[in-house]
Amino acid sequence: MKPLKIGILGLGTVGGGLLEMALGNGPLSKMVEITGVSARNKNRPRPVDISKIAWFDDPSELAKHENVDVIVELMGGADGPAYHAVITALKAKKNVVTANKAMLSAHGVELAKLADENGVQIRYEAAVAGGIPIVKALREGMAANNIKNIMGVMNGTSNYILTEMAKTGRPFGDVLKDAQALGLAEADPTLDINGGDAGHKLALLCALAFNGEPKFEEIELEGIERVEPVDLESATFLGFAVKLIASAGLNDNKLSQSVRPSLVALANPLAQLDGALNAILVEAEPVGTLTFIGSGAGAGPTASAVAADLVDLFYNDVRPLFAGPCITNSNIEIAPKKSLNAKFYVRFNVADKPGVIAKISDTLARHQVSIESILQKPPTKPDNVAIVLTTQKCDELILIDAIDELSKYDEFIGKPLIMPILN
Ligand code: HSE
Repeated sequence: MKPLKIGILGLGTVGGGLLEMALGNGPLSKMVEITGVSARNKNRPRPVDISKIAWFDDPSELAKHENVDVIVELMGGADGPAYHAVITALKAKKNVVTANKAMLSAHGVELAKLADENGVQIRYEAAVAGGIPIVKALREGMAANNIKNIMGVMNGTSNYILTEMAKTGRPFGDVLKDAQALGLAEADPTLDINGGDAGHKLALLCALAFNGEPKFEEIELEGIERVEPVDLESATFLGFAVKLIASAGLNDNKLSQSVRPSLVALANPLAQLDGALNAILVEAEPVGTLTFIGSGAGAGPTASAVAADLVDLFYNDVRPLFAGPCITNSNIEIAPKKSLNAKFYVRFNVADKPGVIAKISDTLARHQVSIESILQKPPTKPDNVAIVLTTQKCDELILIDAIDELSKYDEFIGKPLIMPILN
């Protein structure tokens, strides 16, 4: 078989990792030849010498080059040059391999149609959870299953931050700076910490598993910005870890999808996940529950996923973009946001005055929300003390109503933090 001729757009961390694989002595080096590369900065130091590879200042020129079979898009960004280059490549009948979750969650359906019209493929294993082959697992290994639930930690930066905060008691802002210095968080870490990055990944997995098209805007999103050391300390005391959980589940043909900080029982494998790793649990019929753990970012793991897609194209494996188990689940509805029935963790910040706990218990009781446990640490500042409670199972909307009612009292400061408790 003839090697694939590839053009690589974007030579950052992942592009550098891919060059090492393509130009090294491993399996990929037998299956691809690099026609050209394009990136923002030609002279930036790279792990391999690229001086003998054709350089293109304009990514779209390379995207439609006659001597290219596959465009590997590693530039990132939902719109702009990456999107433009992918459109150009598809129209020029080039296959596309991309790690761009933001672009696929925003434009996946349109790109799928364009790929179909031009008889080419789009592959995106590297877009979800870096080196973990979760797209392949859903699309191929579990293709004939009914997927019940997907639950995972899909953003390494936020997991690193929560893990460090729990270990050291340091505040969010300080640990975020460490994550940036270590090269884990992006220079602009907004999407890592506000749940957007994990939401993009969940949208792609839901497309494969449930509804056939990414619906990012319908995901309930909450990031980790409001989690404080007191939450991590209280969770540990109660026997839980705090994790940014991306989850999706199908109940009565209604799909609920959310990314939000949650308390996870220590017995759950997700609670044990330290540092920048990713983990995903998939519950399906008839296979049962499968657990995937590995590096969700970085040169080697993400390039490994890009390379796997190239190998599939080398062997001419053909599949529709978002086809997987979802083929059996058309016409599902999206569940309304905040429709969870669960136990919850709530942290109030209050002025330390007599009767505050009575107001909380009275208000929750009137809304039929039963308290399971309540904690107050000795106050360090009498004008702002944390009261933490956990509830029995209740409807989140009812809990929110009760908490809104409490905000009318002067002792209650700011917006309480609510996190679901997962078993
Ligand atoms: N920045 C992401 C993370 C990896 O921290 O997991 C790429 O999506």
